[in-house]
Amino acid sequence: MTARLAVLGNPIAHSRSPEIHGLFGEQTGIDLRYDRILVPENQFAAVAREFFAAPEAVGINITVPCKADAWHLADEKSDNAETAGAVNTLLRRPDGTFAGHNTDGAGLVADLKDNLGWQLANQRILVLGAGGAVRGVLANLLAEQPAKLHIWNRTSARAEALVPIFGGKLEALTADRLENAYDVIINGTSASLTAQQMTLPPSIIGAESCCYDMVYGPEQTRFNTWCLAQAPCHIADGLGMLVEQAAAAFEIWFGVRPQTRSVLELLRKTL
Ligand code: ATR
Repeated sequence: MTARLAVLGNPIAHSRSPEIHGLFGEQTGIDLRYDRILVPENQFAAVAREFFAAPEAVGINITVPCKADAWHLADEKSDNAETAGAVNTLLRRPDGTFAGHNTDGAGLVADLKDNLGWQLANQRILVLGAGGAVRGVLANLLAEQPAKLHIWNRTSARAEALVPIFGGKLEALTADRLENAYDVIINGTSASLTAQQMTLPPSIIGAESCCYDMVYGPEQTRFNTWCLAQAPCHIADGLGMLVEQAAAAFEIWFGVRPQTRSVLELLRKTL
């Protein structure tokens, strides 16, 4: 039987997930079909239930703006998903109930450490943004035992609100209190913005800083371009995070961890 999977969101036409999971399926010998499904406003639960009406439906990925709706649909959630308030992977269990996971944080950490070789333990890390994308990764970053985890957001109250939820070393700072030359800076704001547009001090970047943008595209991202203009730092975009979060989802569905390097290389060539 061909296993059925899909990614649900709006918009969805741009999603690279069918290609990524198709390659994982070929690599692992798992016969699967992976669709893109557009979710009309406020229709997530209905669309998801319709998909799962098929007996061969195994699971779904969920993207913007449906991750909170998927959190509500899940009967049980991983700790990660619970704290993030967002689910990006649903698995239908044999009894018909749904297990909700969030693999975004694991995907980010795998890309930073395994693909890029950037260190997180004992490092001073700055995260920009306080929306859904950032909520999904904070627990995983904290688990890496950084020396500091600072968070800045345009609307500072939103960053401050995350501190009691995640605890640990997380500290919300306004721009004037940010430190110089962070070891790792992660942009999790929604639009591809320059830090200048975000009114951040150039001093946050040093020559040794590793600057990561969660967004990606065929060109260097605007945030990464701004970082390089401040100092000859290391930069990376979020394509690797996309592939790694997919690999973690694939493992949840099939119990097999696919190799990501060749998939990432192929995707990079066709951006
Ligand atoms: P997502 O789920 O993609 O994270 P979101 O929850 O709408 O989307 O959050 C968007 C993030 O990008 C927020 O941190 C937002 O800052 P505010 O909380 O102040 O709105 C940030 N963002 C969006 N546009 C921005 C801009 N022009 N300058 C700075 N930050 C911006």
